[in-house]
Amino acid sequence: MKVLAIYGSPRKEGNTAKMMDAALSEFPEEAEIHRVYLSELNFSACGPCRECKTTGNCVIQDDMQQVYKEMLWAEMIVFGSPTQFSDVSSDLKKLMERTWWMKGDLKNKIGGYVITGRRYMESTLNTLHAFMLRHRMILGGSGALGFTHTEMGNLDNDPLALKDAHKTGKRLVELYRFIYSEKK
Ligand SMILES: Cc1cc2nc3c(=O)[nH]c(=O)nc-3n(C[C@H](O)[C@H](O)[C@H](O)COP(=O)(O)O)c2cc1C
Repeated sequence: MKVLAIYGSPRKEGNTAKMMDAALSEFPEEAEIHRVYLSELNFSACGPCRECKTTGNCVIQDDMQQVYKEMLWAEMIVFGSPTQFSDVSSDLKKLMERTWWMKGDLKNKIGGYVITGRRYMESTLNTLHAFMLRHRMILGGSGALGFTHTEMGNLDNDPLALKDAHKTGKRLVELYRFIYSEKK
């Protein structure tokens, strides 16, 4: 089970990371989990070059090149994002745009997510759903939302959040087994 966990929050040990870690704690020992923290990477937004239209690859030489390799390697990609101005974090949005060239490459990979925030989180969900569906990924999980009730948030105020994150992890494992084990 090859799992890529993409942490999209600017805070490495914040609410989103707690939700992600709760979900990942449901994965079996044999799962190979690679973690990518976008806040530690140096990468630009998708620019004006359009080079991928002719080369079929992203030609921008920055840390996204390693993330592309991880995304291609993974059988399952789990995204974590805080809600920031009613949407995914800017780092995660940047990553999404930079996958424009990956036409078909993410097809049939399982996708899951956890998100945090306290209001206007629907757009965050929509952005994640649209990204996965556009890449023809298989949308898994249970839609785990962490409601944090203060400005910078404290997940401990939401007793259901971590429970939901665990449910998401369980569902992703269940879906993986359905697709990869039981079908073989
Ligand atoms: C710039 C910024 C914008 C935010 N916008 C929203 C928002 O639109 N809706 C919301 O519910 N929370 C918003 N928040 C709060 C975060 O989503 C919330 O505190 C989240 O749990 C932080 O996750 P983290 O601990 O992983 O950083 C915003 C936070 C920041 C820093």
